[in-house]
Amino acid sequence: EDQMKKKQLLKGKKVLVTAGPTREQIDPVRYFTNPSTGKMGFALARQAAELGADVTLVSGPVQLDTPSGVHRVDVTTADEMYQQVMQHYPHQDLVIKSAAVADYRPAVTYEQKMKKREGDYVVEMERTKDILKELGETKEHQYLIGFAAETQEIEKYGREKMKKKNLDAIVVNNVSDEGAGFGHDTNASLFFTKKGTEETYPLMTKDELASKVLEAAAKEMSGGWA
Ligand code: CTP
Ligand code: CA
Repeated sequence: EDQMKKKQLLKGKKVLVTAGPTREQIDPVRYFTNPSTGKMGFALARQAAELGADVTLVSGPVQLDTPSGVHRVDVTTADEMYQQVMQHYPHQDLVIKSAAVADYRPAVTYEQKMKKREGDYVVEMERTKDILKELGETKEHQYLIGFAAETQEIEKYGREKMKKKNLDAIVVNNVSDEGAGFGHDTNASLFFTKKGTEETYPLMTKDELASKVLEAAAKEMSGGWA
C-alpha cells in the first residue's frame, strides 16, 4: 500500500530536470567543462518517473543510460541548455536544475584547430547566461529547485542562492566532502525551502537523495498529503 502511495505522488505532474556538465568549445579539438557525471540529475529523473511524473531530462554530455519512461533532450553548451530549458519551462509543474552549467565560455570559438606557438596563451572568457536565475525571474506557477555546489560556508551561500534566484527550494552540496558530489554515487547535503523546511541529509545514494527531495517538493506543491 505504501508503494501505491509513493507511485501516485507526482502523478499528472510535468517535471523538468537538467543534468550533467556543459561543454564550451575553444576550437574543434579543445573545450572547457567540469567533472559532473550527470548521476544526480539522472537519479532525479528516474525517481520522478517512478513517482508517476511526465519527465523531461535536458542533459549535457554524459555516459549514462536514459531512465525508462523519461523524455531525454541532449545538449552540449550552456547556451543550448538555456534554449531547451526556456522552451519547455512554461508547461512544467516542477523544475530541478542539477546541471553543472559553465559560468564562462571562450569569447571566441575558432573553426580551425589552433596551432601552438612560442610563449603562453591567454583565453578570453565571457559569461554565459544564468539559466536558473532567469527561471526564477520569469516564474509563474512552477515549483523551482536549484542545486548549489560549495566548498565553504555551505549554508550561508546556499541560502543566498535560493534568495537571489527566487527558488522554492535548494539542495546544497559540500563538494569538498569525501565521497560526495562530482562523480560519486553519494551526496551529503543540506535542503532548504522558501516555506521553511530545513533538512540535513547525511551521506546517501543519489537515488535516495532524489527520492527525499522529490517527496519534500511534492508535499509543498500540493500543500500536504492527499
Ligand atoms: N546555474 C544555471 N546557469 C548557470 C550557472 C548555474 O542554471 N549559468 C544553476 C545550476 O544548475 C545550479 C545553480 O544555478 O542549480 C547553482 O549553481 P552554482 O554553480 O552552485 O552557483 P552559481 O550561481 O553559478 O554561483 P557560483 O558558481 O559563483 O558559486
Ligand atoms: Ca557556477
